[in-house]
Amino acid sequence: MVTIEIPTPDDWHLHLRDDEMLKAVVGASAQTYRYAMVMPNLRPPLTNTTDAVAYRQRILDAAAAVDGGAFKPLITLFASADIDLDDLRAGFAAGDVAAVKFYPAGATTNSDQAAGGLAEFNSLFEAMADMGMRLLVHAESTDPEVDVYDREAVFLERHVVPMLERLPGLSVTIEHVSTAAGVDLVMGHDQLAATITPHHLAKDRGDLLASGLKPDLYCKPIINSPTDRRRLVEVATAGDSSFCMGTDSAPHPTTAKYGPSAAAGVFNAAYGLEAVAEVFFHAGQIDNLAKFVSHNGVGIYGVEPPVGRLRLTRSEAEASAPPDRLVTESGDEVVHFGVDAAALWTVEVL
Ligand code: DOR
Ligand code: ZN
Repeated sequence: MVTIEIPTPDDWHLHLRDDEMLKAVVGASAQTYRYAMVMPNLRPPLTNTTDAVAYRQRILDAAAAVDGGAFKPLITLFASADIDLDDLRAGFAAGDVAAVKFYPAGATTNSDQAAGGLAEFNSLFEAMADMGMRLLVHAESTDPEVDVYDREAVFLERHVVPMLERLPGLSVTIEHVSTAAGVDLVMGHDQLAATITPHHLAKDRGDLLASGLKPDLYCKPIINSPTDRRRLVEVATAGDSSFCMGTDSAPHPTTAKYGPSAAAGVFNAAYGLEAVAEVFFHAGQIDNLAKFVSHNGVGIYGVEPPVGRLRLTRSEAEASAPPDRLVTESGDEVVHFGVDAAALWTVEVL
């Protein structure tokens, strides 16, 4: 049996959706995490402070049933020509908007609402550098000539590196970094930090493709090679301060996942922490778990350290499988990631 205590973790990349799905999924995050960096790819996307404040209130209302007011959603805006710089400055100063998220058009769920490449948002990003606001980047080339497994590396080289040179004062988070190339870039640039997901740490593309296609592991950026996974595990479990956990929990109902075209997204809000703990355990680095899930993000985002604590206990003897899906009010099912790890680990709020 293994037992560790860690400060309350934060989730630095989370999709909570809205309406019925928000109500169904928010508890899984609110019962375990403190801050959550909430993504803006709603329909329509969040592009102004008024909508951000209203969305945060809907999240808080939905979370109130489970969290006793402890969950702190941080709202992001969707990089778009609709962002008004005065509104952004005011929203950031008031603490209502935490960051701006850039999506390449067509790369993932609801990103068809994006317009333009990084270079076209230069004045927005200049203003963000002046404010000290981080830019969050979904780094994925949508050039049809580029192989799907090379999309992150190509986007970083073609778009992110030139942007860092143009805007040396801008701090950037590479979201859900998924390749060794991404890790190397982050380690070589002070301007960069990165989130890493539980599923990119725990799985490689063989798990996705080699033994029956697994729509529940289909996400963007795609889960990549064993070599890429090993590099992600290496930097995460070393506790490197440039990398923190962002679950990228992205619920889709089974009706959107199972069919001729699967929606991209892994739902890991409930058991992602256990899946990450299992990766650290197998790497012999469980003592570094708190750095990755509780401390590094505090440093990157400049928030106050957590006061609460969690106890995680691993026991093979008591293993019993938790529910493998949740069901929304109208009967949609959303399949959990990390059920195997959750059968081994118990998480208690202290
Ligand atoms: O797999 C993904 N799903 N990647 C993203 O970047 C977006 C997300 C979603 O919103 O479903
Ligand atoms: Zn995401």
